Amino acid sequence: MEKQIHIEPVTRIEGHAKITVFLDDAGDVRDAQFHVTELRGFEKFCEGRTLWEMPGLTARICGICPVSHILASAKACDAILSVRIPETAVLLRRLMNAGQMVQSHALSFYYLSAPDFLLGWDADPAIRNVVGLVEKNPDLARKGIRLRAYGQEIINRLGGKRIHPGWAVPGGVNQALSPEDRQWMLDGLPEAMDTIQETLDLFKRAFDCDARGVLGEFTSMYMGLVAPGGTWEHYEGLIRIVDQSGDIVVEGHDPARYDEIIVEASQPWTYLKFPHYEPMGFPDGMYRVGPLGRVNVCESFGTPRADAELEAFRALASRCSGKVFDYHHTRLLEILASLERIERLLGDERILSPRVRAEAGVNATRGVGIHEAPRGTLIHDYTVDDDGIIEKANFIVSTGHNNLGMNRAVSEIAKMYIHKGEVTEGMLNRIEGGIRAYDPCLSCSVHAAGQMPIDVRIVDGDGQLVERLTRE
Ligand code: MG
Ligand code: NI
Repeated sequence: MEKQIHIEPVTRIEGHAKITVFLDDAGDVRDAQFHVTELRGFEKFCEGRTLWEMPGLTARICGICPVSHILASAKACDAILSVRIPETAVLLRRLMNAGQMVQSHALSFYYLSAPDFLLGWDADPAIRNVVGLVEKNPDLARKGIRLRAYGQEIINRLGGKRIHPGWAVPGGVNQALSPEDRQWMLDGLPEAMDTIQETLDLFKRAFDCDARGVLGEFTSMYMGLVAPGGTWEHYEGLIRIVDQSGDIVVEGHDPARYDEIIVEASQPWTYLKFPHYEPMGFPDGMYRVGPLGRVNVCESFGTPRADAELEAFRALASRCSGKVFDYHHTRLLEILASLERIERLLGDERILSPRVRAEAGVNATRGVGIHEAPRGTLIHDYTVDDDGIIEKANFIVSTGHNNLGMNRAVSEIAKMYIHKGEVTEGMLNRIEGGIRAYDPCLSCSVHAAGQMPIDVRIVDGDGQLVERLTRE
């Protein structure tokens, strides 16, 4: 008789979801699914609002990544105004996004995921969290917490603690950078660089090629924005897609025409859609985004320390890694690259100019804004009337792009660990760990839920509860 195992809710991710593992008669894994169990419907909610409200409004899509939505929204609005925003506004938006990369990646690595692989996948769940990490490895935990705070403070100093939902506006930003704040950011860089370098060194020592197979490995395509020449890019750039060998599938595609190559499929068992590469269909058109996607598509980071670490990573992995665990390694590489970008941006004297906003009216009726958020490519696509009232809004969030990849990961990991119906808490934690590696933000498309105890249900083919495991 077929059995199902439910992991609900998935813990240490941003939002509410569950995993179901389907067992066959022999108790082996037939398939597994990652479901998003709530729908928020923000796209409909935006209709009838003005484009001027959109950056602040869409910042409320998600309490975790408002910065990412503000920036994608402001870029879509720039396109509707048809303006070239002042160069200082570009530098400041880039700085904001780099700060967001640092704080978001540090949160994912030090708080949410490191407890699994530094305390052990089978460690007592009661201590397998950042509190347990502080006890076991206080120095690393403290430095990780300070690194995240540094990224967070860059965002706060640029946008103001409470006002950042309104900081990026159609045509630019609404506040210049003060020399004092620039100096504060420069002063914090050496410690942040030391922390990430130390963490990378520890990570490379602790996890060889075999150890990094713990969360499975599979073939897919990868997508991200790159600058001309294929350099890593997070704010502007053109769409590149590569296959598992690193060979280019799509090159130099205009992000404003994303819908010529990307379409979204729906499935009845989840509210999260499945964007995929249209020419290859669903589900073969699977690509992955985020840190692993961006590192796999780029030729180089374009900054010396990150490029040295990229070379070391590729020597250890391959030109194009398919390992889910390598999301963690590439996340660390991106923190380093972002810190180097912050240094470069702050060293540009134009960054202190007070000319930060272009004024214009509605000059186009459609605008697409794309940038690389920490979790992957984020798309805002607005259609407006002549008065700038939103008639249609479409968002494709990073977590959506990774939906096919996350589903494939849970199924691969479940097949690796569950045999003959035997299930332990540590096995289920590895399956959840596969999801956490992608660092999904379900709050971007659903309501955020607080930390909740995990509830694992093993249910037979008739829906009868066979066994139930809970943990706090
Ligand atoms: Mg959508
Ligand atoms: Ni989010």
